[in-house]
Amino acid sequence: MTLEEKVGQMTQVTLQVVSKTRGAWGQKHEIDLEKLRAAIVKYHVGSILNVYDMALTLDEWQALITQIQDIATKETNLGIPVIYGIDAIHGANYVMEATLFPQSIALAATRNPALVKKSAEITAYEIRAAGIPWNFNPVLGVGRNQLWPRLWETFGEDPYLVSMMGEAYIQGIEGSPNSIGDMDKTAACMKHFIGYTVPLSGKDRTPAWIPERMLRDYFLPPFRKAVEAGVHTVMVNSGEINGIPVHGDHYLLTEVLKNELGFQGFVVSDWADVNNLYTRDKVSASPEAAVKLAVMAGIDMSMVPYDFSFYDILVKLVQDGEVPVARIDDAVSRILRVKFALNLFEKPYPNRKMAAKVGSQESARTSLQAAREALTLLKNENGFLPLKKGLSILVTGPNANLRSVLNGGWTYTWQGNEEAVYPKEKKTILEALQDKIGPGNVVYVAGSEHEQAVNIKAAADAAKRVDVAVVCIGEAPYCETPGNIHDLTLPQAQSDLVAAIQKTGTPVVLVLVEGRPRIITPLVDDAQAILLAYLPGPEGGRAIADVLYGDYNPSGKLPYTYPRYPNDLTNYDHKPIEMDDPGRRNPLWEFGHGLSYTTFVYDDLTIDLKEMSLDKSLNISVNVVNSGDRAGKVVVELYLSDLVRSISPPNKQLKRFTGVPLKPGESKTIQFTLDQTDLSFHNRANEFVAEPGEFKITIGNLTETFTLVAGKE
Ligand code: BGC
Repeated sequence: MTLEEKVGQMTQVTLQVVSKTRGAWGQKHEIDLEKLRAAIVKYHVGSILNVYDMALTLDEWQALITQIQDIATKETNLGIPVIYGIDAIHGANYVMEATLFPQSIALAATRNPALVKKSAEITAYEIRAAGIPWNFNPVLGVGRNQLWPRLWETFGEDPYLVSMMGEAYIQGIEGSPNSIGDMDKTAACMKHFIGYTVPLSGKDRTPAWIPERMLRDYFLPPFRKAVEAGVHTVMVNSGEINGIPVHGDHYLLTEVLKNELGFQGFVVSDWADVNNLYTRDKVSASPEAAVKLAVMAGIDMSMVPYDFSFYDILVKLVQDGEVPVARIDDAVSRILRVKFALNLFEKPYPNRKMAAKVGSQESARTSLQAAREALTLLKNENGFLPLKKGLSILVTGPNANLRSVLNGGWTYTWQGNEEAVYPKEKKTILEALQDKIGPGNVVYVAGSEHEQAVNIKAAADAAKRVDVAVVCIGEAPYCETPGNIHDLTLPQAQSDLVAAIQKTGTPVVLVLVEGRPRIITPLVDDAQAILLAYLPGPEGGRAIADVLYGDYNPSGKLPYTYPRYPNDLTNYDHKPIEMDDPGRRNPLWEFGHGLSYTTFVYDDLTIDLKEMSLDKSLNISVNVVNSGDRAGKVVVELYLSDLVRSISPPNKQLKRFTGVPLKPGESKTIQFTLDQTDLSFHNRANEFVAEPGEFKITIGNLTETFTLVAGKE
């Protein structure tokens, strides 16, 4: 390969670069073959990404990818196929006909890795059917700041939960064992490495300060697990940690990711972030210095994305001896290995036969099941829910009759807010409730928009004439930086709506549809029931109706700590110094909270060793019984507390979980095993160790203690 061909492989541009300008909104996308030729033949570009401005149909994708691969494989000397990349964040959300799923934060609430894997399998199939072999997902950042607008793209605040869901997702996308050469699998792209999820300000792409020990204890584990699961690509954190933009951080990208974790795949930058080292971050004095810094730090492919500047600069840097050819060879080998593994050289084109199964009824059922399992019942005073079908209800609130709000960002468009493009056959909450109990029993009044009152008085008047008011509040769709807010408090118009209805005395059920926990504290006491739906996807309306009427017994568990106050954003695995007293830390609901319509009772928590040494595993068993009169799924969670150690220990940490369906009266014994890794943390010297001493295991309301004794290592 010539130097130019190699650097071209490292260059990624966005679809706009090779498109004719689109006229009016909704006008058909058109590729510009001359621009495409320039990109692929002249600049040897190895990768293209994204949509122009909205999802394409399957046919459009297949035609587009065919045109791209025709030029790449037939009109270039080497015939290397292009690797097209897409954000398929909750299903193939840029393929019009595809199956969409709940967003990751909702999937995390299911505590069901098997369901995550299944949704990822469907996603892989549906993007590969479009001809796209590469998915910029899963997000493996641990979402520990509730204000951050990308919280809903994460699997929540706990490193173990994120690790397990991330591993399941990668297995689903890439196959298990990884078989990305199969036409129904794609390469996954874990992102954003590393520490993107905890900006100090809570705003997107703002600085994080993360000491080495915290980086290793909280943020590295999901990425480590994903590398072990064989993930083929990684995207880098667009922000900075401790003052160093991650795109220019040799320590993190090369020493930790590639050398220490042994990551063999390739590293792609995030959007414009190589050049951002110069334009935004001010760590490089010129675009040339930025490219050199990023490539030498370990970036293998630059998401440029609007021009060929990276290509021009890097070719020159190598010619001038500023970047060694060996670094280029390493980067290109990594990229080509993935292209070979994807079988792109043998099969660069979409397989037209796959189209028939895209967006199937069966896949929609998986999405519905995921939405049902995600829904988290936060409050249910005196068993107010489930509702009886004969009652009359008022449905109101900004999220009652929109499809976009159930899906959020990354849906058909980047921001997900083009209501008109949402397929009409998927139900809004209002429509699903009308289907459930008949339109005659349902009154609808808008009440308020997200930020503005519409007819609050009319809604309150209507509430007086019904048995129950179902008020659907929360957030409008958003994605990335446009989702920044200054305050988590629910907008005034919405709390005014809820308060006005509560004043009528008619019982209120709050349905929260939101990407992050908005503060609803003043509304909680006077709500009979509160159901958190997160961003449940296109089947969310139906799932909510199923849960409100008891056709599905809720089992979702909070994947984050739900704050009571906007300035009390903490996580469940807090330190002893933050003891749970109202003056220090006082969340509304803790991570792991979630009610059921039945009751579960734990007993007989036993451990097989009271004294454990590091060469041993600890076996734990517990019995759980459904003591109520409805079938339901219980999520059994095992928490571990290290009672004393040299680094102040977290109050408790999730170490295992499993979902168990139980019929009324049925019981089951659950077994878990812990080993040395589960007991370990990074000490003052940043060594990963378990220190002798007492540990506590908590499952439900039961606890057991054991002692780790010094001895054989
Ligand atoms: C986001 C990434 C995404 C990329 C490509 C960036 O702005 O941070 O998560 O994969 O765009 O669309």
